[in-house]
Amino acid sequence: MFGFKYYTPTKVIFGKDTEAKVAELVEEFGGKKVLIHYGGGSVIRSGLMQKVTDALDAAGISYVSLGGAVPNPRLSLVYEGIELCKKEGVDFILAVGGGSAIDSAKAMGYGVANEGDVWDFYSKKRQAKACLPIGVILTLSATGSEMSDSSVITKEEGMEKRGYNSDLCRPKFAIMNPDLTMTLPDYQTACGCTDIMMHTMERYFTSGGNMELTDAVAEGLLRTVKSRAVILTENPADYDARAEVMWAGSLSHNGLTGCGNNGGDWSCHKLEHEIGGLFDVAHGAGLAAIWGSWARYVYKDCLPRFKRFALNVMEVEDQGSDEEIALRGIEAMEDFYRQIKMPTNLRELGIDPTEEEMALMAKKCAAGVGGHCGSAKVLEEADMLAIYKASR
Ligand code: NZQ
Ligand code: ZN
Repeated sequence: MFGFKYYTPTKVIFGKDTEAKVAELVEEFGGKKVLIHYGGGSVIRSGLMQKVTDALDAAGISYVSLGGAVPNPRLSLVYEGIELCKKEGVDFILAVGGGSAIDSAKAMGYGVANEGDVWDFYSKKRQAKACLPIGVILTLSATGSEMSDSSVITKEEGMEKRGYNSDLCRPKFAIMNPDLTMTLPDYQTACGCTDIMMHTMERYFTSGGNMELTDAVAEGLLRTVKSRAVILTENPADYDARAEVMWAGSLSHNGLTGCGNNGGDWSCHKLEHEIGGLFDVAHGAGLAAIWGSWARYVYKDCLPRFKRFALNVMEVEDQGSDEEIALRGIEAMEDFYRQIKMPTNLRELGIDPTEEEMALMAKKCAAGVGGHCGSAKVLEEADMLAIYKASR
């Protein structure tokens, strides 16, 4: 077992109607002038935005708002937000939406609190020294950004999608009302469940040694999300299923399911970020499309973990060789993806990359991770290319 750091400073307010607490939470964390940041308008159509502005008005907290965060949020909007915050004297950013609005808000927070170009942090040129305080009202259970130290931004020039991790951006509070996710299209709900499971699976498939308690938490989380994802395909209005998925989304990416695992694998995320950058696909669907090919490429190097996953998460029969059991687990996972209408290859994802595009993605991926990534199996550029090719 490895040593670890566990830091989750976010105050979570979970349950029905919790968005009513937004003004008192902003005040608690010192917000006097707020930027409300959101996406393409779902929060306006659902009536949530009206509730938020009413609450801030009633508390006498002034605010400006900026929408437009798209899936795979763009750097140009981050620059626009930074300028707006500086001009308006904003001291607190409230993200209302999914991972894209939250990540975009975090990037703006860095941009306001530090000198120079905010992209420097994402391109790993230097480290941020501060970030404006961020609050969240979550409308999509998926990325875990409401508690995570991570923010992922796409620079339009070259469609470069890069993440930056720092405790500075961890939200001060996260309001989580499962009812707010009821308006999601089924596809986004399924993408979210896929992403949530992947955040734990990335931490689970490691070759360095694991901690039994962490494994038990991880396997329980994976079984829970898997079963609730199926329930939600049949009954999207099931509040309890949405609540389980929402809380799993936060726990899956706040560090809990990685304690003692020495950091995790993260290859699927790195491979997907290139697909998302180049083809602008939904993150969760991109992960599902690549996972089977990755798993078949690496499982022999990490057999005990794949066997354990097959038995304890996918609940396949304990019969045959370790390799047979591991492969049955991979097949069962792909069956699950099909059941919730997620893709299991790039064509099902709706893209058909050329040889050149796959070579470019592998090259950018390798460059972005400093040459290699992975723990289940260490992958270099040639391995990345082989996985992209196998996932067509
Ligand atoms: O933009 P609006 O109009 O709000 O619509 C969104 C968007 O079209 C819609 N939506 C969200 N909540 C809704 C809703 N529609 C109806 N009702 C609701 N309640 O859903 C669509 C997707 O939203 P988005 O925020 O893009 O999705 P998600 O939360 O999956 O975020 C994806 C982004 O987060 C990054 C991904 O790479 C991607 O860029 N990630 C961030 C991470 C982090 N910060 O920790 C970790 C992840 O691994 C991931 O990389
Ligand atoms: Zn993810």
